[in-house]
Amino acid sequence: MTDTVSRTETARLAFDGRELEMPVLRGSEDEAAVDISKLRAETGLVTMDIGYGNTGSCTSAITYLDGEAGVLRYRGYPIEQLAGQSSFLEVAYLLIYGELPTRQQLDAFVSEITHHTLIREEMRHFFDSFPADAHPMAVLASGTVGMSTFYPDSWEIFDPDAVEITTLRLIAKLPTLAAWSFKKAIGQAYVYPRNDLGYSANLLHMMFAVPSEPYEVKPEVAEALDLLLILHADHEQNASTSTVRMVGSTHVNMYASISAGINALWGPLHGGANEAVINTLERIVKSGGDVAKYVALAKDPNANFKLPGFGHRVYKNFDPRATIIKRAADRVLDATGADDALFEVALKLEEVALNDEYFVQRKLYPNVDFYSGLIYRAIGFPKNMFTNCFAIGRLPGWIAQWREMIASSETKIGRPRQVYTGVKQRDYVPIEAR
Ligand code: CMC
Repeated sequence: MTDTVSRTETARLAFDGRELEMPVLRGSEDEAAVDISKLRAETGLVTMDIGYGNTGSCTSAITYLDGEAGVLRYRGYPIEQLAGQSSFLEVAYLLIYGELPTRQQLDAFVSEITHHTLIREEMRHFFDSFPADAHPMAVLASGTVGMSTFYPDSWEIFDPDAVEITTLRLIAKLPTLAAWSFKKAIGQAYVYPRNDLGYSANLLHMMFAVPSEPYEVKPEVAEALDLLLILHADHEQNASTSTVRMVGSTHVNMYASISAGINALWGPLHGGANEAVINTLERIVKSGGDVAKYVALAKDPNANFKLPGFGHRVYKNFDPRATIIKRAADRVLDATGADDALFEVALKLEEVALNDEYFVQRKLYPNVDFYSGLIYRAIGFPKNMFTNCFAIGRLPGWIAQWREMIASSETKIGRPRQVYTGVKQRDYVPIEAR
């Protein structure tokens, strides 16, 4: 728990002729939460909050988000400032250690990451054993938990040195795992990391270089990728981060916790939305650019279709990351000379949706995933690699949240309650008598 939490107020709940007084926590940005930890013991009640829209699962000093005002800050620094001036590894340092590094600290951190990018040579067989059309997210999640078999020190979750080396290994090796899962899928030779390249440039090199000719990383492309990674680096208690914390609360090692987070991220309602956005835009272009048809489909309660890249559980005004990405998309499309037919359709779709009563009433705006896929695509990433890139970006956030959770004396194993709605007690009937 942070020392900025105040507990001077209380809230009252009346039920069944009894009144319970519960402490109210206030965080450093004045967010308030009722502490209901004594509720069941004193009243027999549990709370019901499907989707956890009103449930705080922890206190955290990492990321602040105000969905109504469109504010996102890592360790107090506005995302706009970090996106404009920082680098991904500097942001990773900030999230994990709490402060911006000095030049010396950053150089040491970057050097450590750079010198851990190789994965164990035995892991080449691991990639070979997947089918050629394996989704890279499945391979990335498996490879991440697979690393725990090579590094048993990761089980020492309360040993600061072991946590530190696991942190560095994860940040250093995830791009290698991601790039090799792609190389496997396209049947090309695995490309080893290059220590003379920056983090994002090295990922591009491992993805797109081939052994038979030189590959030059375009600085503006590496810069655009670095920006995307910064924008994805943390987002407080979203589904994948909550998964990392929940799995980590069982005291399993960090590789297993992060692997669980990667699986949670894969879903199209979460990080998989970037792939779904491009699929939708391609379908719209193919059908002659009929944007209105897809907006109508998204509004049809029987269609079981939501417009990917629109809406957010927390942002109800605008997603500050989407604003930054939209501007960057324009620049990257110019720099790469990519065909921007999809970008045109995306702009049209945004305009139609933002002026539609259904979207306005429900406060549905483009989210971070609406434009990010266009940048990944312009860079040359295939669609099924987009969410791998998101995972690489989110990794420092997952690690920072895992470390905060493990270090907190208040952490308990995550174990929600339920309200049982099944059959009441009955007697077993032998199979001959059924
Ligand atoms: N298209 C059409 N209708 C929508 C959409 C959408 N994209 N998103 C929400 N709605 C409707 C929803 O049907 C509901 O309508 P009604 O009140 O008539 O039942 C209303 O808006 C409220 O939506 P909700 O589903 O209750 O909101 P939620 O907070 O549970 O879900 C969400 C948030 C992001 C899962 C949802 O907006 C969605 O499915 N969006 C599309 C997928 C997407 O872009 N996900 C990426 C999220 S941002 C990056 C990340 O988290 O990784």
